[in-house]
Amino acid sequence: DEIYLAALGGVLPSLPMTFAEWEARAQGALSASLFSYVAGGAGDEATQRANAAAFQRWGLIPRMLVGATQRQLSVELFGHTLPSPLFMAPVGVVGLCAQDGHGDLATARAAARTGVPMVASTLTVDPLEQVAAEFGDTPGFFQLYTPTDRELAASLVHRAEAAGFRGIVVTLDTWVTGWRPRDLATGNFPQLRGHCLANYFSDPVFRSRLAKAPEEDPGAAILTWAQLFRSALTWDDLPWLRSLTDLPLILKGLCHPGDVRRARDAGVDGIYCSNHGGRQANGGLAALDLLPAVVEAADGLPVLFDSGVRSGTDVVKALALGATAVGVGRPYVYGLALAGTDGIVHVLRSLLTEADLLMAVDGYPTLDSLRAEGAVRRI
Ligand code: FNR
Repeated sequence: DEIYLAALGGVLPSLPMTFAEWEARAQGALSASLFSYVAGGAGDEATQRANAAAFQRWGLIPRMLVGATQRQLSVELFGHTLPSPLFMAPVGVVGLCAQDGHGDLATARAAARTGVPMVASTLTVDPLEQVAAEFGDTPGFFQLYTPTDRELAASLVHRAEAAGFRGIVVTLDTWVTGWRPRDLATGNFPQLRGHCLANYFSDPVFRSRLAKAPEEDPGAAILTWAQLFRSALTWDDLPWLRSLTDLPLILKGLCHPGDVRRARDAGVDGIYCSNHGGRQANGGLAALDLLPAVVEAADGLPVLFDSGVRSGTDVVKALALGATAVGVGRPYVYGLALAGTDGIVHVLRSLLTEADLLMAVDGYPTLDSLRAEGAVRRI
């Protein structure tokens, strides 16, 4: 209403309204190499394209005479009542996409302003304690890239607990980096710039593994980090991961129903269906097409979803297919590149307003009604 009434009064939004424009404008705002790092994916990017294209193959069926004058978008997630089912997916170098280099803090402030939670990556540019301090009343989640050094992994998780994060998201699909031709072409590996690794570099266990402090010898610190990064977890590691924390434990990257059932049996609290936005493995099915089987296998566990969400309509479709909460990656990073915290707030509000209006027009006033049989069909 606010956006429309202002526009009727002649005050148009100062930032663009669609993903295509956010991306185009971000390209102008970021360096060529940083833009291609964010925008690119694995291989010839077929999976990345498939992720977005899949949304066109699912259609919503409108209901009439519902009187959906009030919509209820709030959702219960891990004991928290969130005002909407949207969240910001973990993005490692998001810090660098802000003009001042502190994009993680800007993102956390957007979370505080909108109630849309941020999942902060292990690769935050600022230490996780500083990021958490900006969350306000919005719960935040910490994403763990599990290092091979178990003590270091425990240190990162315990720091996140102490800083007030409300859940640990363990990303499983990135124990080695995928084949990303755009990065090889531009030579852009932002994480190799030491200042991207402040979260690691400030960790007491990480520091204890180095002969010299990272400030004195950043090259050696980066090499140590790179060696520790490649942790190929197996199912045998799950009990150890579970033992690290009493916080909700969520596994990111689960797309196969068999894996989902196994994770459930191992006592995880949430399933995160994602193919990393097509950045890791190419040649895969679109994440959205895998979502219904994941939801079924999760058998009542919350299912977070991301990969390819570009609009409020996409958000609604993912919810109708059973996602408990829907994440975006690149859309909010582009908002950050355009206008810092305000830009992220603009992107999130645009997505949510479109989703809310669609639910009104289509006659689905609640998330439960949207998830009921018959709301969505494959085209
Ligand atoms: C990511 N993603 C990611 N995931 C993760 O678990 N830890 C991380 O550090 C990162 N880093 C990262 C950097 C960049 C530049 C991007 C674009 C993405 C993946 C992210 O969490 C999410 O799965 C995808 O971005 C979702 O796809 P869309 O919304 O970008 O299509």
